[in-house]
Amino acid sequence: MAATAAAAVAESQHAGTFWFPPQASTVAAASDRLWYAIYWLSVAGFIGVVIALAFFLVRYRNKGVRPAEDQTSHNTTLELTWTILPVFLVIAMFWFGLTGYIDMRTPPRGAYEIGVTGVKWNWTFTYPNGLKTKDLHVPVDRPVRLVMTSEDVIHSFFVPAFRVKMDVVPGRYNDMWFEATTPGNYRFTCTEYCGAKHWDMMGNVVVHERGGFESWLDQEESQLAGASPVEKGGKLFQTLGCVACHSVDGSPGLAPTLKAAFGRQESLTDGSKIVIDENYIRESVVNPAAKVVAGFNPIMPAYQGRVSDEDLTAIIQYIKSLSKG
Ligand code: CUA
Repeated sequence: MAATAAAAVAESQHAGTFWFPPQASTVAAASDRLWYAIYWLSVAGFIGVVIALAFFLVRYRNKGVRPAEDQTSHNTTLELTWTILPVFLVIAMFWFGLTGYIDMRTPPRGAYEIGVTGVKWNWTFTYPNGLKTKDLHVPVDRPVRLVMTSEDVIHSFFVPAFRVKMDVVPGRYNDMWFEATTPGNYRFTCTEYCGAKHWDMMGNVVVHERGGFESWLDQEESQLAGASPVEKGGKLFQTLGCVACHSVDGSPGLAPTLKAAFGRQESLTDGSKIVIDENYIRESVVNPAAKVVAGFNPIMPAYQGRVSDEDLTAIIQYIKSLSKG
């Protein structure tokens, strides 16, 4: 069973063509068909033009002086042909493009809804039961609608294997839908340059086998229910994206490391000194710009209204635990 799943994952990551990753959603095949049709039409057009060009070069090369009245000025049949034929080709491309676009923009009724939040430099996925994850988990053979927003700048959510992509914009909700057709792991990535760690805003879409998504959801929920505050805080530290800038092992990052941070004395940008305690951590999460440690830029987004008091307490307990042992 585990071996079959691993093989399926490996296959879904490596199958595909020269131009495309594997097709893993209901719209992928139609999208690729249109792309290949336009591609081969362009190749045929290019070859045709180059052959005609070479032929005319040789056939009508200057073999001596010709009188001006010999030269043809126009040919109505030829001009109508090269105008009308491309018009029909363009109409066909537009038609298939439009119908495909309408399909991709219209989520089926009863689609499973997952919230997506982009923030520098992390994605958080929120399920109907409140569970939050760093990777996107979805069921196979079921339409999923993503309701997406950003906490700071414009990001863009792209799943190449599904052939779907949508901008994620602060101050509004954008949506996008897909129906995964093959269980496995697929890469998603941010495709809007959003700052220093734009390259790091990627992760996996885990497409669960039939029934697997529901049991995964139950398992995550019961694990969370039985977790200690430190475990819960550690999980939030990952899903909220703190880990993108704050290391927990002492290695340098865009923000101070949280290894042995609790109880540490720090100098602030205004020259004053503080000792990191519960209140400083709390303030630095809800309003990070208030007291910035000297040598760092105030780049962290404010989490005011985004974390509950209970979650804040768990995060504080987790940071405290990094100062023990
Ligand atoms: Cu987010 Cu690039």
